[in-house]
Amino acid sequence: MEKPSQFLEFAIKIAKEAGDIQMSYFGKISSLDKKSTSIDLVTNADIESEEFLIKKIQEAFPGHSILSEERGELLTNSEYLWVIDPLDGTTNFTHNLPIFAVSIGLVKKGVETVCGVVYNPAAKKCFYADTNKGAYMDGEKLQCTSSNTLSDSLLVTGFPYLHDLKYDISFELFKEFYDQTRGLRRLGAASLDLCFVAMGRFDGYYEYSLKPWDICAGSLIAQEAGAIVTDWDNSKLPHDGSRILATNGLIHSQMVEVLTQEKYKIYY
Ligand code: IPD
Ligand code: CA
Ligand code: CA
Repeated sequence: MEKPSQFLEFAIKIAKEAGDIQMSYFGKISSLDKKSTSIDLVTNADIESEEFLIKKIQEAFPGHSILSEERGELLTNSEYLWVIDPLDGTTNFTHNLPIFAVSIGLVKKGVETVCGVVYNPAAKKCFYADTNKGAYMDGEKLQCTSSNTLSDSLLVTGFPYLHDLKYDISFELFKEFYDQTRGLRRLGAASLDLCFVAMGRFDGYYEYSLKPWDICAGSLIAQEAGAIVTDWDNSKLPHDGSRILATNGLIHSQMVEVLTQEKYKIYY
């Protein structure tokens, strides 16, 4: 493996330290707040992890901009933007389910994600990538699966906190993929869903109504492991997280065919 870039090395270090902060709260959450809806939670671990990451980035790269889930935009005029989810999978975390992560991506000039790290502290697994250098989990190179039919595939997806009309229809879509594949899972941490496509646990992943911090690092890691990551209609990935489709490449067009049907036009 090539030496990680200066930025990636830094991001891995602070992601692991933020993971230690998460673990100091894991299994001990006694209070939480609610955000957009009664099921959209935030804990002390989210806040403390975020404060730590922002402080470290500001110390190391004082001119860089930051976009972080709980604090929002901390903008400078830098060409570099750090995109952070201080705790992805908060609902799992709150219920002592060890599927959660720290996610840190670095975007250059608003278009290119140059490096990304997703750290799952409960499993002590760190996923990372620099652009054009491949994706790794703790030094081990990652590679997507080679399944080329939906019927041989296992997929993963997620659902937003807001239960609107799109949410209702998403169960029809879930059923459709469920019927055509070996199965469809909902794990509850988008950044890890993408890493699991990268490492070959899943053949494909789709979701909608996400945010940039959910997908920034994970989509680079998946791509660097050979995944195709696009919008649901195979156009360029919307970096705001509105829709994402990440597959091993071989089942991409089959998933696009399902996702672009007239009955799902509400998502576009
Ligand atoms: C959530 C997780 C989940 C996805 C939700 C996200 P959070 O992030 O990534 O898998 O389905 O839409 O909001 O709130 O745990 O950081
Ligand atoms: Ca998230
Ligand atoms: Ca979060």
